[in-house]
Amino acid sequence: MSSPPRQQRYALILAAGKSTRFKSQKSKVLHHISGKPLIQHVLDKLESLGIQKTFVVIGPQDHEVQNTLKGHNSQFVVQEERLGTGHAVMVAADQLRQLKGHILVLYADTPLIRRETLESLFETCEKKSADQVLLTAELDDPHGYGRIIRGPEGKVIDIIEEREINVEQKSIREINAGFNCFKISSLLEALSFLSRENAAQEYYLTDVLRMLQQGGKMVEDISTTFVEEILGINNRIDLSRAESWLRSQIVRKWLLEGVTIIDPSSVYIDDTVTLSPDTTIFPGVFLEGKTQVGTNCVIHRFCHLKDTVLEEGVHLDQCSVIRNSSVGKNTHIGPFAHLRNNVFVGSDCRIGNFVELKNCEIGNESKAAHLSYLGDAEIGNRVNIGAGTITCNYDGVKKHKTTLENGAFIGSNTQLVAPVTVKKGAYVAAGSSITEDVPAYALGIARGKQVNKKKWAKKNQKKSEKK
Ligand code: UD1
Ligand code: CA
Repeated sequence: MSSPPRQQRYALILAAGKSTRFKSQKSKVLHHISGKPLIQHVLDKLESLGIQKTFVVIGPQDHEVQNTLKGHNSQFVVQEERLGTGHAVMVAADQLRQLKGHILVLYADTPLIRRETLESLFETCEKKSADQVLLTAELDDPHGYGRIIRGPEGKVIDIIEEREINVEQKSIREINAGFNCFKISSLLEALSFLSRENAAQEYYLTDVLRMLQQGGKMVEDISTTFVEEILGINNRIDLSRAESWLRSQIVRKWLLEGVTIIDPSSVYIDDTVTLSPDTTIFPGVFLEGKTQVGTNCVIHRFCHLKDTVLEEGVHLDQCSVIRNSSVGKNTHIGPFAHLRNNVFVGSDCRIGNFVELKNCEIGNESKAAHLSYLGDAEIGNRVNIGAGTITCNYDGVKKHKTTLENGAFIGSNTQLVAPVTVKKGAYVAAGSSITEDVPAYALGIARGKQVNKKKWAKKNQKKSEKK
């Protein structure tokens, strides 16, 4: 017997709330946890659930939310007046009317939900042919959540919001998690019965349940014991709780994937980062954005990487900062190195302490081991850059390029006044200010010639010292 065709799935994310408790100029759904805006976490969870289309309800000024979700193929619906979660669904009703199937309605401020929980909401709704399936949970501290009221037969018969509950209901620990799957036609029907006769004078989405029950429709519930996943982020305390919980989950995931993390509680890894087995991460490390770390890397204390690729075997000594860059195999960097804005370092290189690199391409087996600034430079293979070398790349108006070809040797304390090229195999004498190109295999010297004045000190000694 062939299984019935899967029914159409849709999602509706409510993100138009005023974020009053958050006390922020911008929408709370744009605040980040583990490197991603709250709403982005919610959208990512919807992937692979087979959803045809996702609608997002936003406020009239929420252009930034729209920009953040660009390329996500979501359809935005604007809720001009914020009259509650039920009203937010009402403003999307016109779009929903044309659809058949089930819709998952969820809140943009609950980003920790697991994909499998959302899948079981859909599945229960589809298999039981229910009109609504809601998610509940038992919390030690139910404060702030809508409480679940069950009838004599154990069925959910109502949801009472925090501000409406009486003393008895206060002790109910079962709460509405804020995730619902509806048969679209039943949801639309129930919406028309909602009213604002409540303490907040809002249209509550939670009242849909009662409307459906009264109309003889089927309401089912599932519960989760994994209570962290339903945390609603209403203020900055919730935000920090979500951050630390998600952080612990991310670290746990990488530990299980074979990454050694010496002190998990002190390491921050964004959700968007990827790591590889046999890499070791020391305490106090931050890995952010689209960072990718290969196998067998060592990242020492207090390093900070953002949008950076480390190939295998890279060794970062402590307190090195790397942004928007990539580092080739077995290269050793730091301590206290700073690489930023498009630095591409090849394999087997050595970039040492107090070296700053900006917009540089460096070939393989090259070295800048101490105290240098190299900006807007193209540096070949096996180039040796002495301590204190500086590219003078900026003339006050424009940036200029420095080129150091394969095998060039730059003596210590050299200034390379760009635009300038040191050609293949050429040497630059220590202490030079190089303003002209140095030909291949030549030696460039550009410094005052030393004069030693014989017995100068003796002749100039003060009489008193002579005694
Ligand atoms: C809501 C539920 C509560 C549940 C809790 C779970 C209602 C009435 N209450 O309460 O039962 O326990 O979530 O986290 O639904 N929003 C709009 N437009 C509006 C109002 C809100 O889009 O006019 C959006 C918000 O941006 C937010 C979501 O809806 O993402 C939930 O709103 P919020 O005010 O946080 O509801 P809670 O009080 O947490
Ligand atoms: Ca909330």
